[in-house]
Amino acid sequence: MDIKNLSKDFGVEIKNFDCSKEIKSDEIELLKKIMQDKHFICFKNQNLDGNNLAKFTKNFGDLEAYPEKDKTKGKIEIFNVSNVSEDGEHLSPDDQRVILQKNNSRWHTDSSYRYYPSIFSILYGQETLPEEAKGGQTEFSNMLLAYENLPDDKKLLLTPLHQVHSYNDIRRLEPGLPELTYEEKSNFPPVTHPVIRVHPDRNYKKSIYFTSNTSLEIGGMSLEEGKKLHGWLVDYISQNKFCYKHSWKKNDLIMWDNRVLLHRVIPYDYSKYRRAMIRGTVEGKVPVLGPFSNEVRLRD
Ligand SMILES: [Fe+2]
Repeated sequence: MDIKNLSKDFGVEIKNFDCSKEIKSDEIELLKKIMQDKHFICFKNQNLDGNNLAKFTKNFGDLEAYPEKDKTKGKIEIFNVSNVSEDGEHLSPDDQRVILQKNNSRWHTDSSYRYYPSIFSILYGQETLPEEAKGGQTEFSNMLLAYENLPDDKKLLLTPLHQVHSYNDIRRLEPGLPELTYEEKSNFPPVTHPVIRVHPDRNYKKSIYFTSNTSLEIGGMSLEEGKKLHGWLVDYISQNKFCYKHSWKKNDLIMWDNRVLLHRVIPYDYSKYRRAMIRGTVEGKVPVLGPFSNEVRLRD
């Protein structure tokens, strides 16, 4: 495999590596090491379908199942990130499947609405926008870097806070979406996560952990105070110095670490262009730790 850095601080591109084949254990270890150090990989020129995407994803852990059965292409573990239906029809911008895509243009990290959020997301570009089109890129912001650069007063302010993450609350941001069923709601009740995250596998380094695509509420603050702080965080992490923007080419397969990077889709003309992607997601097995979690506070 040929490996090239994509930016000064994070992200690599890998050429001449076929993700549809059986991956050897030393190659898996190398890819995990790259993810740990660089947080983002783009594998060029892949040829995948839902089945071999699921197979590739399983090299890194168990697959997460998507909360809503009807938003997937056949397999509930492979999520359809697309404005194209499974039969190849270009969907109208007010179709609920497209509205759900629009919500992805808010900064987020996948499945933060779970008590055990996902580790990696792996996204394959089946149909991408033409060169001349505006938007459609996926932008990433590095939360380890963003934490390091926070002013001291903001570190102090953010350290004890938790944010509410609620799958059902996507409906507050996107009222065009239909109600979840009772079962879907019961399976995904709201959770809270620390706004400053501690990484035991990175020598207890800290990063920022928040999202804009579910709830905006910060525990212990009024709605107005929480929204104001949230708005400040969005402006702060959107600075170019923390970000890398991935411009898609057809058959790119990208993989990122949800524990470190936030991402968002840059909006594009949904009615003019087709954009079809499928995603496999590696399930997390541990909760998000904060500076005051017992595992962090009471360690020797
Ligand atoms: Fe996402």
